[in-house]
Amino acid sequence: MIENQLWHPVIASNQVRDTPVSCILLGEALVLWREPGHDGAPGAVHAWVDRCPHRGARLSLGRVLNHLHGARLECPYHGWQFGGDAAAAQAQVASGRCVHVPAAPAFDPPASHCATVFEATERHGLVWVRLERPDRTEMPAALAEPPVFEPWSDPLWRQVLCGPYDVNTGAPRLVENFLDLSHFGFVHEGWLGARSHAQVETGKVQEGADGVVAEDCRAWQPRAYAGASEGGWVSYRYAVPHPFAAILRKDGSVGDPVSNAIALFIRPDTTGSCTAWFAMATLGDLSDDEELRAFQDAVFAQDRPVVESQLPHALPIGRDGPIAEVHSPADRMSSAYRRYLARLGVTLGVC
Ligand code: FES
Ligand code: CO
Repeated sequence: MIENQLWHPVIASNQVRDTPVSCILLGEALVLWREPGHDGAPGAVHAWVDRCPHRGARLSLGRVLNHLHGARLECPYHGWQFGGDAAAAQAQVASGRCVHVPAAPAFDPPASHCATVFEATERHGLVWVRLERPDRTEMPAALAEPPVFEPWSDPLWRQVLCGPYDVNTGAPRLVENFLDLSHFGFVHEGWLGARSHAQVETGKVQEGADGVVAEDCRAWQPRAYAGASEGGWVSYRYAVPHPFAAILRKDGSVGDPVSNAIALFIRPDTTGSCTAWFAMATLGDLSDDEELRAFQDAVFAQDRPVVESQLPHALPIGRDGPIAEVHSPADRMSSAYRRYLARLGVTLGVC
């Protein structure tokens, strides 16, 4: 399954502190824990299966130990200790190996006594996890890493992470909603659109192995930019660099001092449920972080009931699926996105 070979966001980095936390990714329960930091730098994050190999207890109910020989995760049941990177380097065992059994302290646990470990990294304020290494030579190079989102690391821009939003539908439905300009006048009337100005322009849509890019997508908005007093046409650029991620960008222009970039990053929890974040970066927006979050929360609260109502929760991408959907010329981006999922062979959340 290609989904297992992709990087997925699982939790905001600042939610993994000194106690383990859990989440579901692609139906797999994970424990996330962080090694204690040094000299102000945060320690490494680990993502393991949330199940002790001894008797199956949830490791996320355990504790992080700052052991002399490196951080360890202690199981809540019999206190077995599993090594993180530092402990693993010290003991010359793979990360996740059991390094101590308190009830049998002289026992030297063999390699089989180990937690199931996944690759984890941090990007754009989120922890990203990959369940399997890619085994496909045809995997696009861009998917070997979490999606690129330059404005998140640009010191001139301000970055605000919004979410998590847990949503009762498949991740592809949510991506498609993000790419869809033609719902603005109805779902977000008075906020992002008006039904009296419902017409949109889908611009130039390009499809390639690395995803979908659409330039100059235009919609009428009641406020052409944050702080504007009147409506006008707004031009967006969209990119879909990953099956479950999409990035919108609006650059400032003469008469519009604000540039915005919003990345939608989604954790596919199960086939029919997901958790989303908006990584927002802005240049020139005078609202404070809390106002930006409140706006995003309000807009998402408008989307949620409609998106969760869409049936099936899986996105119909094939002509021979159980349900076919029909399209208009305003849906060119969504059609391109559906073809991208089909080309990649994505099976989660599609039908
Ligand atoms: Fe984890 Fe026994 S179940 S130590
Ligand atoms: Co919307």
